[in-house]
Amino acid sequence: MNYNKKTVKDIDVKGKKVLLRCDFNVPMAKDGSGVITDDKRIRAALPTIQYLLEQGAAVIACSHMGKPVATFESYKKKQLEKGKDEASITEEKWKKSLAELRMEPVAARLGELLNQAVILADDVVGPDAQAKAAALKGGEIMLLQNTRFEKGETKNDPELAKKMAELAGADGVYVSDAFGAVHRAHASTAGVAAHLPAVSGFLIQKELDFIGGALANPKRPLVAILGGSKVSSKIGVINNLLEIADTIIIGGGMAYTFSAAQGGQVGDSLLEEDWKDYANDMVKKAADKGVKLLLPVDTVIADKFAPDADSKVVKAGEIPNGWQGLDIGPDTVKLYCGAVADAGTVIWNGPMGVFEFEKFAAGTKAVAEALSKTTAITIIGGGDSAAAVQQLGYADKMSHISTGGGASLEFMEGKELPGVACLLDK
Ligand code: 3PG
Repeated sequence: MNYNKKTVKDIDVKGKKVLLRCDFNVPMAKDGSGVITDDKRIRAALPTIQYLLEQGAAVIACSHMGKPVATFESYKKKQLEKGKDEASITEEKWKKSLAELRMEPVAARLGELLNQAVILADDVVGPDAQAKAAALKGGEIMLLQNTRFEKGETKNDPELAKKMAELAGADGVYVSDAFGAVHRAHASTAGVAAHLPAVSGFLIQKELDFIGGALANPKRPLVAILGGSKVSSKIGVINNLLEIADTIIIGGGMAYTFSAAQGGQVGDSLLEEDWKDYANDMVKKAADKGVKLLLPVDTVIADKFAPDADSKVVKAGEIPNGWQGLDIGPDTVKLYCGAVADAGTVIWNGPMGVFEFEKFAAGTKAVAEALSKTTAITIIGGGDSAAAVQQLGYADKMSHISTGGGASLEFMEGKELPGVACLLDK
């Protein structure tokens, strides 16, 4: 796939209406208060927005938020599938679930950060959005309601894509800066590009430069650190990185499937029985390709999955029944940090242990610290590893922290990203 895409700098946006797809899918407080708990994704979109406004463009921003269910019928079906009692599923509850995913908090925060009013539409392509988009002037910004309130959004409905494009008018432009959603072929992330000249914003460009650069032409040695709970969710990325990396480091819950595959005792640790053969194939493939594959040599075990569990360190593959591995051990920390020290590039995706529990955060902390000290280019995949680096206070020491969880993973798997493929080539 060609990642050499036109950017906002390659197109004239002066006096034009720009439909700008962002990923404003930000975490919100669980109490329904509408408080944004992390505005990183809104901040990450600011350079593109500010550039467009300075150029005199009228910016029609849009984003999805969460996974709203667009009709009551589908909501009911989903709740029944979750095992909910039919009588408890009401239209009020469905409406409340939608209200919690409205864009008001995002519009307010964006306005504060821009120090400028953000006009909020009450719908996505309905009469309010149409009227507000028609009246929008150069240098002004509006935000559409949650794109997933339209049931055609996730189906990439061509009619919806056309209506979205029409908001920008006949000489409008489409700019995508929603890196976190480029792995989705939805109406607002891909379909709309069929109707307007489509270019990328600065955030997508930065993500493509860092992650794409590390995959295509890395400063070597390239070390990939892969953690997280399941082998099954990382197969694609392990497979692709075995073609590219010099060293692959395995940590997190998935290490126990590797250990069990090699005949180790993993006690009550996370184990994917069905993926043991696959894990062995990966070990063999690494050996055949001359890629160093590092597995834990020791592990911190716990007598229950809880922050206050009893814990001790044992050798990898020697976990007694009744105990489970929740972190890499101190010898593994030394081994892994040593491998990172002389790297040219490090890609990290997935924590080394249950870092949310202080007692089992040492492995993830040590790796984050090692990355903060290396001179290597350090790239942190979005999702859990980004959260870990942030929570542990090392965020500003990394070369790049991706804003995309699923998107960065699919990028590292070597998959085509529909939200990038649809943009104009340079
Ligand atoms: C994310 O949070 O990873 C992106 O916003 C994509 O969200 P989605 O998984 O709901 O498509």
